[in-house]
Amino acid sequence: MSAFVRPMTEADLPVVAEIEREAFGASPRSNAMGEADLREELVRPWSRTWVAEADTAVSGFLLAWHIVDEIHVLNVAVRREKRRGGIARVLLTQLFSYAREKSVVAMYLEVRMGNRPAIELYRVHGFHTVNIRRSYYADGEDALEMRLDFDARGAIIIAADEVPLPEP
Ligand SMILES: CC(C)(COP(=O)(O)OP(=O)(O)OC[C@H]1O[C@@H](n2cnc3c(N)ncnc32)[C@H](O)[C@@H]1OP(=O)(O)O)[C@@H](O)C(=O)NCCC(=O)NCCS
Repeated sequence: MSAFVRPMTEADLPVVAEIEREAFGASPRSNAMGEADLREELVRPWSRTWVAEADTAVSGFLLAWHIVDEIHVLNVAVRREKRRGGIARVLLTQLFSYAREKSVVAMYLEVRMGNRPAIELYRVHGFHTVNIRRSYYADGEDALEMRLDFDARGAIIIAADEVPLPEP
């Protein structure tokens, strides 16, 4: 499988919304972004969204906000049947190269406490847990706040988790 990353365009919205629904559910309490939400991201000046084409089909995407010298990662999702194939890794690699090009000093994100695949993905890329945000999500689940800092050369500052995670 090959994976090619490029900026999201209007034409990608239906498939990206489908990946969102598959990943985050279509119930009224879900926080999945629909086509209209994604379209708004295309025009926000601070929003950066990339899609990954795996063997030519859009199979994952990453949404981040770049504000001054920080990046907030809002979402990463990959089609279920394509997971564990390295697509999220390729999307994060793109984000890291963008961050270095723009002299970003820190990246942060929130992730559901029970989302072990995503927590593991972020950890292997150098994020560490700095805080637990209680009842952060609409269904009451807590969020881990994770963060990654770059030094002046763009190298990742390696830090241990500051908040111990509960056992799975
Ligand atoms: C989290 C998610 C984006 C990972 O995408 P992916 O393309 O499968 O991830 P990759 O194949 O690039 O994995 C990279 C690394 O992340 C970690 N990882 C990914 N999925 C994992 C899992 N199910 N269990 C443990 N570690 C996992 C591993 O370290 C993996 O490296 P390895 O395969 O060499 O062990 C995907 O599971 C997904 O779309 N989940 C639903 C949406 C979601 O929860 N997004 C996060 C919102 S904050």
